[in-house]
Parts: sequence; C-alpha cells; structure tokens
Amino acid sequence: MRNGHRVFSGIQPSGNLHLGNYLGALKNWVSIQDDYENYFCIVDLHALTVPQDPKVLRQKVRELAAIYVACGIDPEKSVIFRQSRVSEHTELAWLLDCVAKVGELSRMTQFKDKARKGGAEAASVGLYVYPVLQAADVLLYNAHLVPVGEDQRQHLELMRTLARRFNGLYGETFVVPEVFIPPVGARVMALDEPTAKMSKSAPAPGSYIAILDEPDAIRRKIRRAKTDSGTEVVASPEKPAIANLLGIYAAITGSAVEEIERRYEGKGYGDFKKDLAEVVVEGLSPIRDRALELLDDPRELDEILETGAEKARAVARPNLESAWTRMGLS
Ligand code: AMP
Ligand code: TRP
Repeated sequence: MRNGHRVFSGIQPSGNLHLGNYLGALKNWVSIQDDYENYFCIVDLHALTVPQDPKVLRQKVRELAAIYVACGIDPEKSVIFRQSRVSEHTELAWLLDCVAKVGELSRMTQFKDKARKGGAEAASVGLYVYPVLQAADVLLYNAHLVPVGEDQRQHLELMRTLARRFNGLYGETFVVPEVFIPPVGARVMALDEPTAKMSKSAPAPGSYIAILDEPDAIRRKIRRAKTDSGTEVVASPEKPAIANLLGIYAAITGSAVEEIERRYEGKGYGDFKKDLAEVVVEGLSPIRDRALELLDDPRELDEILETGAEKARAVARPNLESAWTRMGLS
C-alpha cells in the first residue's frame, strides 16, 4: 500500500558493488519498495569526483542498473535512472552551493578521509561539494525518506540542514527528508580488517564480497576472513571480526544475532564460517545469475534507464522551477 511519500537513494557506479552495499542499501530499498513512490538513482556524477576510466564507467553504469533490477527493484514500481541524464540535479546543486557554507563542507568526514589519501590540496572541487549534489538529488524530488548505510548519516544531516535553511530564507520549498538506516547490516566491515568498513575502492579483493562474485570466490573469501582470538562465536566488543560475520549472517537471514550465537554454542569458528558462506552464496547467487542474464541484453537496461529519466524529469523540473521562483530567478 503506497502512503504517497517518496523514497530517494543512489549508489555510485564505481568499483565493484559489494555485500555492504547490498545489506546497507539495496536490500532495504527492495523491502520498502511497495510502500512508497521510489526513485533509485545511479549517481554517475558523484562517481566523477575521483578519477574514472570512461570505458569502465560506461560499463559500470549498466552493471549497476542490472544489479538494481536483479536485487528485486522493479522498474514498474520504481524509477531507475542515471543522475547525469536529469540535468536538474546539477542545476539545483548550484542553487544549494550558494546556501551551503564552506565550514559545513569542511567538516564532512568522508571528504576529510578521501582528501587525506591524496592530499587535501589535490582533491577535486567536486569531491568537496559532493554532499551538496547529494542534497540536490533528494530535495529535487521532495523525498521523505532516504535509505542508506551508516556512513551516509552525516551527509543526510547536512541535507536536512540545507533544506531547513533554504525554507527559512526563501519560504517553504523542500520536504526535510528522514534518514532510514537499517538496524543490522548498516556498517559491514572489511573481511581482512574488521575495523575498516567494507569498501568498493579497497585494493584487496579478499576484503570484500562482490555481489557478482562466483560462489567459490565467496566461499574462499569467507574461509580466509580474519577471525579473533578465542573460539566462541559471540558478538562481543573484543571480537570485532566475529561480530562483523555474525552481523552479516543476521542481516541476510533476518535472524537475531543472539539466536545465531545460541546455534553455534560449543561449535568453533570453522563450522560457523562454513555455514555463513552457504548463507551468503544462497543470498547472492540468484542476484548474480539474474544480473548476468540482464547484461547479456543491455538494450533492455538502456530502455529502463531512459524511461526512468523521463519519469524523473517530470517530477524534478517543476520542483527546480519553484526553487528558481523562490530565489528570484523567475
Ligand atoms: P557507495 O558505495 O559509496 O555508493 O554507497 C552506496 C550505498 O551503500 C550507501 O547507502 C552506503 O551507505 C552503503 N554502503 C556502502 N558501504 C557500506 C558498508 N560497508 N556497509 C553498509 N552499507 C554500506
Ligand atoms: N553519497 C552516497 C554514497 O556514496 C550516494 C548518493 C548520492 C546518495 N546521492 C544520494 C545516497 C542521494 C542517498 C541519496 O553512498
């Protein structure tokens, strides 16, 4: 039953989509899809904030579209589109750039982390204003709800600040969106380093499980995943690696962590990891198969994206125009 409210979320078509993206974002998009009017975006402009190979980027956009659909996002129920094809996103971003403050953007931890790697002076201006474009993405649709992983909390807070500030300065224009972060799976950690989040840009493929990984690769990665000292399968703060694996198990199966801990009482890490591998394979295999099938005939994917862009534009345009009017541009 639709409640008349809109959902907006997006993923960058860069690197390999992984289990963190699935559990933190995609799986929840699918679970709320029937209750909302949904806009699921492939945020290709956000991907450009760090250097991309044009050929790879082109391919990754299709791959991401295939994964969206394969995960269960139904193009009949949800609008799937590319950010760059709806130019209203960048147009509203400029208006919001003029409302956001340098101090606010300088406090964004994702910018600070990414900029630290290559030196802040060398970071692109795009990387700096990235959260403003993200705010424009959502505000342009007057979306009420934004389902994302834990790492996006600060960007969502800024988005809410910008919506409120704009409304205060120019009159009620934008819905102030709520963030939706799942209770489990919102922060999946790297398999080789449980203090770092599972990341697309991680250099070691063993650190993440890609949604398109073959079953044997998944089994191998989980077998080799770092564990903690001791033998008990419990999610204690001293056992970050096992806690992460338990979280993955819980998020995929929908069982509570305590229940899984009880099931493995008296058993060791080996037994648990073996079962976890099968749970992950069972969860991801159908998605992989369907995505590869879709990628075989990219015309269907291209059509989904074109239709999506048209539907998105129809909502985005009048909302951009009301922002213009409020600001005195028309
Ligand atoms: P990105 O890969 O940065 O485009 O992120 C796309 C979505 O996946 C966002 O909603 C993120 O919060 C989510 N996400 C990314 N990495 C993780 C992770 N390790 N655990 C949970 N969610 C994640
Ligand atoms: N910044 C988000 C990420 O890296 C991706 C994103 C761009 C997004 N625009 C968005 C997420 C709008 C939610 C809503 O994860």
